[in-house]
Amino acid sequence: MPLVKLVNITKKFGEIIALDNIELSIEDGEYLCVLGQTGAGKTTLLRTIAGLIRPDGGEIFIEGELVNDVPPEERDAVYMFQHFALFPHMNVWDNVSFGPSIKNWDNEQVKTISSEVLEMVRLSDRQDAFPSELSGGMQQRVALARGIASGAKILLLDEPLGALDARLRVDLRRQLRRLVKDQKLTAVHVTHDQEEALMTADRIMVLRKGKVEQVGLPSEIYSSPKSIFVASFVGNANFFEGNVIEMDNSGSTIWIRGDYQIRVSQTDRKVGDKVVVAVKPTDVIINPDSHKGKNVFSGMVDSSTFVGGSMKYKVIVGDGMVIFSEALVSNIQELPRPGQEVTVSFHPARCCLFEYPEAGLLKEIEAI
Ligand SMILES: Nc1ncnc2c1ncn2[C@@H]1O[C@H](COP(=O)(O)OP(=O)(O)OP(=O)(O)O)[C@@H](O)[C@H]1O
Ligand SMILES: [Mg+2]
Repeated sequence: MPLVKLVNITKKFGEIIALDNIELSIEDGEYLCVLGQTGAGKTTLLRTIAGLIRPDGGEIFIEGELVNDVPPEERDAVYMFQHFALFPHMNVWDNVSFGPSIKNWDNEQVKTISSEVLEMVRLSDRQDAFPSELSGGMQQRVALARGIASGAKILLLDEPLGALDARLRVDLRRQLRRLVKDQKLTAVHVTHDQEEALMTADRIMVLRKGKVEQVGLPSEIYSSPKSIFVASFVGNANFFEGNVIEMDNSGSTIWIRGDYQIRVSQTDRKVGDKVVVAVKPTDVIINPDSHKGKNVFSGMVDSSTFVGGSMKYKVIVGDGMVIFSEALVSNIQELPRPGQEVTVSFHPARCCLFEYPEAGLLKEIEAI
């Protein structure tokens, strides 16, 4: 039995449909990341599970019990604010023990739980400090400790690492996952950062304009996107518009505007169909030597950007077909420079084929 189950959840704010028929099951002990852009409905989803927002339609089950009419404090879920809110006039200890102390637990119990969670987030030595005396990362850990001390089994984390600098984000996301796993909690972690989701989640749900776009393992979301939107949002794919001109058992050939041909392994379209081919920059191999074959294009490096351990290349092929390639610096023998002639290539199996969207390609990949 899933720990949390949402059936057809809908929430409207006036004309805005913040959640549109959401179906979702979260398993006990799972670390689920909800990935979506600003306004996608992420906060609304967490607050609905927590009981802070009442859905207009649908059912929420926790441990098999219908909880639509159960108040937040009686649900086994704690919502942690997008902008973590500590009580500024209380020290670390009082902030953390606040939850347990209002639960009518006895003093000893409150003490044990509070010191355990402070130990867990490694802040026992700062229990007398006030929030203003702590770094952003420490304040974040106090907020986490407070959430865990509440005793709830389900942590609803709204952009828990949003306010932190890059290095801390990376450190804390590992700690956060470990903490949830060690304590046998269940986490729903909301983020708009694809890397954070790919690295921390057991499963990812991509939310778009209130709708579930795809749910799957991080590797599935990355390698087998079900839509143009997911291919763009997770992994910034290259997109090519074209038509299917040939198909056999081993794949399809797509004619691309500008008179190029791309071979893909998929065979689920028809000859003549207007389609979009998506290829991740990390699947595009850049090579200084020229060679021939399927999906091999000669072009010129237009620009290169160093992105911490990898290089991102913009390559222009022929009359202007642009292909982005990204490769680990350690995998490139000789780093191509802007102006240099190169070949770029990618395997047909690494291409994803989509039906051409009715509203046009740009509409599918634009930010919101
Ligand atoms: N109380 C409210 N009143 C009116 N509209 C709201 C309210 N709360 C949310 N919305 C709208 O619902 C939609 C979803 O909002 P939500 O806060 O869930 O998005 P989000 O994915 O958390 O975005 P962000 O990444 O910016 O935090 C947005 O269009 C937002 O404007
Ligand atoms: Mg939000």
